[in-house]
Amino acid sequence: MKTMTARNTFIRRAFSVVAFVSLPLFAQAAGGGGNYHMEPAPDLDDKPSLQAGFATYVNYCIGCHGMRFQRYERTADDLGIPHDVALETVVPAGKQIGSLMKTAMDLENAKKWFGAPPPDLTMVARVRSPEWVYQYLKSFYIDPVRPFGVNNTVFPNVGMPHVLMDLQGTQRMGCVQKPVILESGAEKRDPLIPGKAITEEKCGELYVEDGSGALSAEEYDKLVYDLVNFMYYVSEPAKLERHALGVPVLLFIIILGVFAYLLNREYWKDVH
Ligand code: HEC
Repeated sequence: MKTMTARNTFIRRAFSVVAFVSLPLFAQAAGGGGNYHMEPAPDLDDKPSLQAGFATYVNYCIGCHGMRFQRYERTADDLGIPHDVALETVVPAGKQIGSLMKTAMDLENAKKWFGAPPPDLTMVARVRSPEWVYQYLKSFYIDPVRPFGVNNTVFPNVGMPHVLMDLQGTQRMGCVQKPVILESGAEKRDPLIPGKAITEEKCGELYVEDGSGALSAEEYDKLVYDLVNFMYYVSEPAKLERHALGVPVLLFIIILGVFAYLLNREYWKDVH
C-alpha cells in the first residue's frame, strides 16, 4: 500500500512539472491585441516575411523613425542575410553594417513639422501590440482638414503623413454598399435571384478607390503584414533565440522524463 502511494505521488509530481513547463505555451496562444486583429498572427519563423519587412522599413520608415537599440548587423544575422548582401541591398549608403538603425531626422525640426516628433519604433510592437500597428497602417484616410491631408481611424488626428499611400491607393471614409450579415454569420441572399447577396448602405466605412494604388488590397495587406512582423521581431529579438531553444529544451525534458520513469520503476520493482 505504501509503495502505491509513493508511486502515485511521483506520477502526480511528474505531471505537475510537465504542466508547469508547458504553461508558457498556453500563455503565448492566448496573447492578442485587444480589439485589433492581424491575420495570420505574427510569425518569427517566417524569414522571407521578416526580410521583406526589414527592406520596407528601411525604405519607408527610417527617414523619420529610428530603431536606436537595433543594429543592422544583428538584424542581418538574425534574419539570415549575409552581410555583403545586406550592405548592398538594405543598409542605407554611408552606414556600416555595425551601425545602429538610427534615423537621420532632426527631432527638433520634426516637432515643428509634424506637431509631434516621430517616436523611436524599437519597442512599438510590444508597447502597442503588433495587431494595433497592423491596423494603424491600414487605417489612413483622406481628410482635407488635416495638415497632411490624411487622418487615421486607429490613431485619430495623428501627425504622421500616409507614407504608403502610393502603394495602398487613395483610401476614403464614406458610404459603401455592404452585404447584409445574418445572425448566423452568413450573408443574406436574394430569394428571387440565386446567389445574389442583399446589400445595404453603410456609412463611416473605409474604402480604397479602385486602381488608385500600385498594389492590390491583398498585396498591400501582405506588405503591411511583413512590415509589422519585422517590427515585432525588433521589439524582442531574443524571441528568435528562445524559439530556437524551445524545441530542444522540451525534447530534453521529455527524454529525461522517460528515464526518470524507468529508473523509478526499477527502484520499486523489488519492493513488491
Ligand atoms: C515623414 C515622417 C514619417 C515617416 C516617413 C513615417 N512616420 Fe510614422 N510617425 C510620424 C510622426 C510625426 C508620428 C507621431 C504622430 C503623433 O504622435 O501625432 C508617427 C507615428 C507613428 C506610429 C505611432 C507611434 C506611437 O506609438 O505613438 C507608428 C506605429 C508609426 N509612426 C509607424 C510608421 C511606419 C511603420 C512607417 C513606415 C512605413 C512610418 N511610421 C513612417 C512620422 C513619420
